[in-house]
Amino acid sequence: MPSNPQNTVVVAIDGPAGAGKSTIAKAVAKHLGFTYLDTGAMYRSLTLKALKQNVNLESEEDLVKLAENTLIDLIVSEDHQLKVLLDNEDVTEEIRTVEVTNNTFFIARTPGVRTIMVDRQREIGGSNNIVAEGRDIGTVVFPAAKKKFYLDANLEERSQRRFKELAEKGKQVEPKDIQTDLQDRDHKDFTRKVGALKIADDAIVIDSTHMSIEDVVSHIIEIVVQNG
Ligand code: DC
Repeated sequence: MPSNPQNTVVVAIDGPAGAGKSTIAKAVAKHLGFTYLDTGAMYRSLTLKALKQNVNLESEEDLVKLAENTLIDLIVSEDHQLKVLLDNEDVTEEIRTVEVTNNTFFIARTPGVRTIMVDRQREIGGSNNIVAEGRDIGTVVFPAAKKKFYLDANLEERSQRRFKELAEKGKQVEPKDIQTDLQDRDHKDFTRKVGALKIADDAIVIDSTHMSIEDVVSHIIEIVVQNG
């Protein structure tokens, strides 16, 4: 069923950091044969470039100019891994550093930058069936999407998941620091003047605190497939 004027299907997944959106959106996209769109990777990529070029993160004019002159490509490989190209350079790993994570809010809170990002996201969704994840997908980017999910989990569970994820990568971080970090990111996400994280009126809320990844994925697929 068409979910936007271009007749493509958009599955929107919003929610706070650490709720498992990426893993779940990727798995849902793989199952449905849809394109996976990680909008956070776009904000992260622009942040990385701004940091590298010492752009004034407080200047909307400078950030908009930067966004206009930046090429961000999100490529999903055959084995369903996401590759992020910033001006044709592979930055898949580099956009996940603490420095980028901690500075992305400058980019994400800038209205002129969001307008550019949202336009690019709509272009991608206009020519492909997509599973898009972010903060404002169901509210701003694709408000007409028929399948909207808000994926949540409580702070403790999200912190534990992040702790495990970092430990698997060999990174030792204090659990308390992870929790404080997530709280800070939540605050920034919920209180931004533009593109703030909120639950769309017509979104299905999934609290994944006590659910496995597989259960969440099959729950979403069931709803998407059932409703045509
Ligand atoms: O999902 P993530 O953690 O990779 O997102 C990185 C940052 O980008 C996060 O701080 C919030 C921001 N973001 C946003 O403002 N809007 C989106 N649609 C996606 C991410």
